[in-house]
Amino acid sequence: MKTKVLVVASQKGGVGKTTVTMALGDGLVRAGKRVLIVDADPQKTAYKWESRKGLGLPRYPVRVEANSGLAVVEFLEYIVGLADDAKSVSGEELDFILVDTPPNLKSGDLEAALFVSDEVIVPVKPNRMATEAMEELFSLFVAANEVRRRHKRGPLDVKVMVNFMQAKRVATAAMVEQLQNNVAEYSKRDHVRAQVLTSQFKHLAAFENAPNYRTSFYSLPGSKDARVAIESLVKEIA
Ligand SMILES: Nc1ncnc2c1ncn2[C@@H]1O[C@H](COP(=O)(O)OP(=O)(O)O)[C@@H](O)[C@H]1O
Ligand SMILES: [Mg+2]
Repeated sequence: MKTKVLVVASQKGGVGKTTVTMALGDGLVRAGKRVLIVDADPQKTAYKWESRKGLGLPRYPVRVEANSGLAVVEFLEYIVGLADDAKSVSGEELDFILVDTPPNLKSGDLEAALFVSDEVIVPVKPNRMATEAMEELFSLFVAANEVRRRHKRGPLDVKVMVNFMQAKRVATAAMVEQLQNNVAEYSKRDHVRAQVLTSQFKHLAAFENAPNYRTSFYSLPGSKDARVAIESLVKEIA
C-alpha cells in the first residue's frame, strides 16, 4: 500500500486537530491528490462537518468516514481495507488517508491511530502551557513506538505545527522558539523522531468560521490567508 497515513493528534481539545485535518484534506485534493479522511474521534466532529446540511453550498471535497473503538491491529486492517476498496472502485490508490483523533491521552482510538500512522501532525497553540504540555505527549510517543516495535513497525515521525499564530506579538514569537527548543530536547532525550514544521496557521476568521459551512476552505469569503497557509502546509507535507 503506497497510501500515506497522516494522523492529527494532541492530548488537548480545541487546538485545531479537526480544523487542520479538514484543511489539509482540502489542500491535498486541490493539489491533485486522492484523499480520504477517517474520523477516529467518537465525538465525530470531522464526520459531522462533512455531512452537515449546508446553506446551498457545494459539499466538502473529501469523504469523511467515522470509525472509532477499534483495537490497534483492527484499525490497521480497517485502514488497509479502505485503501483496497478505493483502489478497486477507481483503479487508483489513495495518496493519503488523514486521521482525526480524540483529545485524550488514554484513548484507545488515539493509540490505534498512532499505530497506523506514517506521520503524526501535532497542532499546538504558541503559549507556555501548551509548550510545557509537549512533554507528556512525548511519553505517549515513547509508548506508541514500543507497541510499533513489537509489531515490527518503524518509529513514529512527529511533526509539530503551530496553530493560532499571532505573528505580531513578540511574546508569541518567543514561545515558538521555546517550543522548538523543547521539541528538540524531548526528541533527543526520548529517541522520538520529531520536528516543528515551518508552516503555521495564523489565528484567522476563515479557520474559525469554516465548520459553519460544509464547503471547501477555498470557497469561504475572505479565506485568502487561510488558503496560503494550507498550501504551504501541503507543500511541506506532500
Ligand atoms: N487557526 C485558527 N484560527 C481561528 N480559529 C481556529 C483556528 N484553528 C481552529 N480554530 C477554531 O478553534 C476551535 C477548535 O478547533 P478544532 O479544530 O475543533 O480543535 P480540536 O479538534 O483540536 O478540538 C474551532 O472553533 C475552530 O473553528
Ligand atoms: Mg476535534
